[in-house]
Amino acid sequence: MSKNKQGLFITFEGVEGAGKTTNIAFIADKLQEAGHEILLTREPGGTTTGEAIREILISKDLPEMHHTTELLLMFGARAEHLHRKIIPALEQGKWVLCDRFTDASYAYQGAGRGIDLNKIAQLETFVQDDLRPDYTFLFDLEADIGLARAQSRGETDRFEQQHIDFFNRVRAQYLKMAESDKARYRIINAQYDLETVQQQISSVLDDLTF
Ligand code: TMP
Repeated sequence: MSKNKQGLFITFEGVEGAGKTTNIAFIADKLQEAGHEILLTREPGGTTTGEAIREILISKDLPEMHHTTELLLMFGARAEHLHRKIIPALEQGKWVLCDRFTDASYAYQGAGRGIDLNKIAQLETFVQDDLRPDYTFLFDLEADIGLARAQSRGETDRFEQQHIDFFNRVRAQYLKMAESDKARYRIINAQYDLETVQQQISSVLDDLTF
């Protein structure tokens, strides 16, 4: 699937309120300054169909959605995103920066909802073949701090209404994945102020062999 991949695929993960959006924009600027052509995108979403699926996924009017449906919709949006946007961009040599990807399915639908991680791995292979992110930044902070930040921003979505235990399981799963794949993951401690977080990001970027 990714035979002609020339660009780099970098994903960003973390519980809600970890500051992903601001920090991804910061990273995109730095990489652009270094001369790379960037595609900034997000999941669920990133394409017209994917954004329509996102609306269903985050809608508070659908609290009863089955967990399996939720997982399959995530991967449906992902298939669309990969084939229409991510793979073509990587083949053109662009660096794809994606706000959340399949690790979010392991964290939210796996650890959060309780779906067997092996089933998620099967979908991952089915939809992505051998395509995996080159690097993943995990913006880590205590789930209750992140959730409070997200809730203070205004209206919450279907996920943000989950109990704190759900987000504690999500965070623990992210940390477990980061621990088991140190070559791919970089953990950013997101509990600090913006300047300190961006200093950490800059030193990680300097260390990566771009
Ligand atoms: P966002 O708020 O970071 O844009 O993401 C929307 C929600 O979707 C967020 O609560 C995490 C959730 N999500 C999953 O549950 N599984 C996934 O695979 C992805 C990509 C996101």
